Amino acid sequence: MAKIKIDPERKVGELDRRVFGGFIEHLGRCIYGGVFDEGSPLSDERGFRRDVLEAAKGLRMPILRWPGGNFVSGYHWTDGIGPREERPRKTELAWFSEESNRFGTHEFIEYCRTLDVEPYICVNMGTGTMDEAQGWVEYCNGTGDTYWANLRRANGQEEPFNVKYWGLGNEMYGDWQIGALSAEEYVKKAREFAKVMRWTDPSIELIGCGLSGVTDWDRVVVEGLAPFVDYHSVHIYTGSDDHWSNVLAPHAADRALRTVRSMIERARYEQGIEHPIHVAYDEWNVWFRARTAETKLEERYNLSDALAVATYLNVFARHCETVKIANLAQMVNVIAPIFTNKEDLFLQTIYHPLKLCAEHMQEVVLDAHVVCEKHDLTVEESTWPHRVADMGPFDVLDVSATCDGSGRDLTLVVVNRDPDNSVQTTVQLTDAAFDGTVTVHEVTGDDPTATNDFGKERVDASERTVDAGGADFEHTFPACSVTVLRAGLRG
Ligand code: AHR
Ligand code: AHR
Repeated sequence: MAKIKIDPERKVGELDRRVFGGFIEHLGRCIYGGVFDEGSPLSDERGFRRDVLEAAKGLRMPILRWPGGNFVSGYHWTDGIGPREERPRKTELAWFSEESNRFGTHEFIEYCRTLDVEPYICVNMGTGTMDEAQGWVEYCNGTGDTYWANLRRANGQEEPFNVKYWGLGNEMYGDWQIGALSAEEYVKKAREFAKVMRWTDPSIELIGCGLSGVTDWDRVVVEGLAPFVDYHSVHIYTGSDDHWSNVLAPHAADRALRTVRSMIERARYEQGIEHPIHVAYDEWNVWFRARTAETKLEERYNLSDALAVATYLNVFARHCETVKIANLAQMVNVIAPIFTNKEDLFLQTIYHPLKLCAEHMQEVVLDAHVVCEKHDLTVEESTWPHRVADMGPFDVLDVSATCDGSGRDLTLVVVNRDPDNSVQTTVQLTDAAFDGTVTVHEVTGDDPTATNDFGKERVDASERTVDAGGADFEHTFPACSVTVLRAGLRG
């Protein structure tokens, strides 16, 4: 019998809702054919796909990153403003395509307002200049009688857009990046970008470009940008056809968050920096099948991936003191929970845990104590791209516990990573009691490789209630499942 013990007084910290953020890039069919489909009967008069908007709303994203990704390192934002017919059509070298520029800054902000999310813009530090980045901040947020602010007004937007979050380049470390830099070169350049952007609007928050959180790049960038930034970014994608490796790989994020946290703590201490610096985990997901540009990154997700995604969110909850923003890469069609064709859409397996967690995880993270069977990975089983074998053995059940401010409403997210065995568990409270019923939301199936498709959603979420009074109750977590338990408590 496994055990999950919760003491509502053992608080870890506050879960920042921005960890449920999203990301849309000009890549494959994410923007064109996903978000934006001009002339489609499924789109509104602005060209926004209504069905995609509807599905995206279910994910309750508080923040949306744009326009890339690798795309941004060749993107000149001025190409995407003004009359659509006059916008230049350009060669796009990040993903070897053509960019019509019909979706630009105004369309993005309009989309954010419609979805009720905060825009987060990443600037071009590949082919882009400091002047362009400065001008973009001024165009979006300027209130003066200046060229850029006036151009925004001339383009129909009187009030500033007030874009608060600005990223200093994307993955500038990678040889796949247009204009890649060494860590030292990046720090030198990013400091100057940061200065002019912040001088233009002191209220903005800046995100420095980190790698996977465990590298020398991260260390050099954290130390070099600490006086200038509010967040250090981390990107980690994981995935494997081997179920155990797939579901345990997200623990790479555990390690990344621990190591970046200590880098930040050291830099702030050494440099006497008073302002806080947190992690913006601004790209994460399972991604290993459709890796090349030709595939347009149209990854099809299975049940095993849904468990991996829930594990990531549990990791973010447990590290709530460190990670304040996270952006699932991406929102539609491209490594995404929502998948469209011209007539329809379907929800991928990963949509369901994402929706359940965004809906039910609450603001106070509690320290869940878990006693259960463990699973080990061999080094061979966990070599790409982020090794976690050394972190094992891993609990078969991955658990996060959150509650509301009053400690009367409890949510447990429990991932049973065992593909074959259900786990009978006692859920036990310290100095509190369950007040009668527990709502059980479950995502499961008999096959870890089960996928969804148009008209065939094999992996879905179910809901039921069970009775629970007193300090504990027993629950069986099915093999290969994500369970969200929501329970009222009395003191
Ligand atoms: O999300 C897909 C790609 O992954 C992004 O463009 C890039 O930043 C990362 O390598
Ligand atoms: O796509 C290349 C690398 O793979 C990215 O930097 C990282 O985010 C991912 O794991």
